[in-house]
Amino acid sequence: MCGIIGSIGHKKVVNDVLIHGLKRLEYRGYDSAGLAVLTTDGLKVVKRKGKVTELEGDQTTQKIDGNIGIAHTRWATHGEPNEINSHPHTDCAGKIAVVHNGIIENFYALKMMLVNEGHKFKSETDTEVLAHLVEKFYKDDLEEAVTRSLKLVEGAFGIAVIREGEDRIVVARRGSPIILGVGHKKMYVASDAPAVLAHTKKVIYLNDNEIASLYEDSYTIKDLKGKKVVNDIHEIKWSLEEIEKGGFEHFMLKEMHEQPDAIANALRGRISGEKVKLTVRFKSKNIKRIVIVACGTSWHAGLIGRYILEKMTGIPVSVEYASEFRYRDPIVDSRTLVIAISQSGETADTLAAVLEAKRKGAKTLGIINTVGSTISREVDSGVFLHAGPEIGVASTKAFSCQVTTLVLLAIHICQDLDKSVSPDIAQSLVKLPGLIREVIADRKKIQSISKKYQKYTDFLYLGRGINFPVALEGALKLKEISYIHAEGYPAGEMKHGPIAMIDPNLPSVFITPDDDSYEKTLSNMQEIKARQGKIIAITSIEDEKLTKLADDVILVPNVPAEISPIINNIPLQFLAYYIATAKGINVDQPRNLAKSVTVE
Ligand code: AGP
Ligand code: GLU
Repeated sequence: MCGIIGSIGHKKVVNDVLIHGLKRLEYRGYDSAGLAVLTTDGLKVVKRKGKVTELEGDQTTQKIDGNIGIAHTRWATHGEPNEINSHPHTDCAGKIAVVHNGIIENFYALKMMLVNEGHKFKSETDTEVLAHLVEKFYKDDLEEAVTRSLKLVEGAFGIAVIREGEDRIVVARRGSPIILGVGHKKMYVASDAPAVLAHTKKVIYLNDNEIASLYEDSYTIKDLKGKKVVNDIHEIKWSLEEIEKGGFEHFMLKEMHEQPDAIANALRGRISGEKVKLTVRFKSKNIKRIVIVACGTSWHAGLIGRYILEKMTGIPVSVEYASEFRYRDPIVDSRTLVIAISQSGETADTLAAVLEAKRKGAKTLGIINTVGSTISREVDSGVFLHAGPEIGVASTKAFSCQVTTLVLLAIHICQDLDKSVSPDIAQSLVKLPGLIREVIADRKKIQSISKKYQKYTDFLYLGRGINFPVALEGALKLKEISYIHAEGYPAGEMKHGPIAMIDPNLPSVFITPDDDSYEKTLSNMQEIKARQGKIIAITSIEDEKLTKLADDVILVPNVPAEISPIINNIPLQFLAYYIATAKGINVDQPRNLAKSVTVE
């Protein structure tokens, strides 16, 4: 989950590359940061608890320089976030430095072995065993020592290693992303592309069980058995501008505003009139069942996808938490289409679910934002979101594009199966960017509503049918960026338990579109009102019955049911954003979270 950046070839690696790269990666993990550089005086390491600015502002950091360095921003898994546990980790002699993304699952056994051999450990991390293993195996070749070490390691890693006397950076991966950046007489290593984008757009994706040595003007890649491999060089399409804040206070706010364009990009070239064209590698007539695997917000998109796909295609769909799916010995076969939804394409649980599905012979399809990501390379075929980089930890534009893409997929399958699709759906998809602009234009109203509610400590989000997952997503957004407790429930389920909590101190947010469930949802509102509960209603219908019941109403454009979750979710993003920022929280980096969760 952490961020890794390293480089060889720049005269002043610390300020030219490492600090800047760490800042770009801070969204991945931000409890501590550190760097290691090979200087004329040997290996120098600086680590600081907290944000990258702590490291940057430190005098020691500013004094160090050399042209080979590695750096890390951590999201702790083993050992609390303090200076000692932060990366890079070093060996007993202080000659080797390692940064690591992932978890060494057998670290305890390895640590015991190394301690018995006389190695002295400083930290509580799993990572430190790597530094001592490399020390144990080092004779005169760093790559060989790393290869031998990794043979003993179980778990996931993306690593970069340097050692005094070796003019190179050795990097390797299994399960955690590593990319190599190719510059002019300069090479880079990073856990993901934004960190190197200021220097080069040419990248190489390292595959699992590959190890590379980066020199100033060359590199080699081998598998862990020592066989040379050739990986293609890819050109990154994202511009530096796209990953900057562009005048917005937060990346999250910028990304919320980008939703009309992001959706237009997701649709571009894929829809013409009522016809949809996707390049996928499964035949719809062979698919008897669909299983969607995902986590968090992507899982909510999957839940909406179930309503859309089942209703439109008639194929049964189940939606699974990826973290549960893989350990359940799931029943899938060659007639099952397993769809993995992931913004980052690096979520360890979702990746594992894909691998399990493939092992069982299922067809796999990825709905993913990050091109070149691990999941996108594992699936049989995929549909990229083209939402542009999502930096804010809270997923916003990716969710909107995921649901949009699921609608496209449903139309695609219907076409394959000769099933008719209401022309309304395709027409509304094309209008979506404009409709979302209308909702965003109303944000000041949402901001003033949010002021009335920021004092509350608990919220209930309620919706029915295809908009029930929107209630879940609205509650998750509020929880993760404002730290306020919120629960999402199907509105009809409220009377089976949660209603016991209703009083003037528990506001409810209702998603109330103009559909078959409208009157029933109004009855649920009555039940809340009868218990003096406060109500915020998101609705597409101007109706006196509703305005009398709700304390605050947010009006959104009316669209077909299949599209409505995308529209209804936008005010909930703004509500969460304004409540959280009023509390002074940095919504781009909420506590305890990381953007891409590459550990299980
Ligand atoms: C979203 O706001 C969350 N931070 C989180 O739930 C996220 O959606 C989840 O970790 C899945 O990530 P992915 O889409 O990159 O796989
Ligand atoms: N497991 C390592 C640690 O706890 C690496 C975590 C990360 O990926 O940031 O330090």
